[in-house]
Amino acid sequence: MNHQNIQLETKRLILNSLSYKDTPKIIGYAQNPKISENVINLPFPYFEKDAIFWINSAHQGRITGETYNFAIRLKEDKDLHFVGGIGLKINQKHNKAELGYWIAEPFWNIGLMSEAVQKIIEFAFETLELNKIVASYFLHNPSSGKVMIKNKMIKEAQIKEHFKKGNTYLDIIQYRLTQKEYRQIIKK
Ligand SMILES: CC(C)(COP(=O)(O)OP(=O)(O)OC[C@H]1O[C@@H](n2cnc3c(N)ncnc32)[C@H](O)[C@@H]1OP(=O)(O)O)[C@@H](O)C(=O)NCCC(=O)NCCS
Repeated sequence: MNHQNIQLETKRLILNSLSYKDTPKIIGYAQNPKISENVINLPFPYFEKDAIFWINSAHQGRITGETYNFAIRLKEDKDLHFVGGIGLKINQKHNKAELGYWIAEPFWNIGLMSEAVQKIIEFAFETLELNKIVASYFLHNPSSGKVMIKNKMIKEAQIKEHFKKGNTYLDIIQYRLTQKEYRQIIKK
């Protein structure tokens, strides 16, 4: 099946491809240390070239099947502006993926990312038929962990000094779901 142009929907959200038209919104929202401090590959300051690079790699990833990056858009916004991103980085050999996400600060704490993650988990296991997904967050970012817990992901490990952000080595907490766990815990 070709998933290149796939669009996913939840009660409040549309998840679809990133577009070059999203560039100003992406730059505006990503220009926030509270975002860049918590997302491993998101630079600060954030320039137009960074947004273009992200959009290009999202398009390329859909073609090769190596990544599925979605823009998050609010259904209630008639212009469907970009408010955040969510994506799966696929490891084809092991049939697994790493989940990552961020949403712009004005939209925090109203359950939007938990809603998006729920849909992406379903997409990963039902459509892509992956065997495992993992997601991780920095110790200093418990709200991201909350999104994983609310989606019944299972704590797998605390990994010491796993990433270098600036001059600091940061611990991560990793959560997982396997296809079997998805069927037993979520689909039951
Ligand atoms: C982390 C992030 C994705 C959460 O998105 P969101 O749409 O606000 O998430 P939700 O509203 O679905 O859930 C957040 C939960 O965290 C809780 N929370 C917020 N701040 C918290 C804190 N300091 N400690 C513990 N829980 C916290 C909220 O109360 C909410 O839980 P609840 O629904 O039980 O009340 C968003 O804040 C973000 O993009 N942050 C910057 C980038 C980032 O961290 N990305 C993830 C990288 S792993």
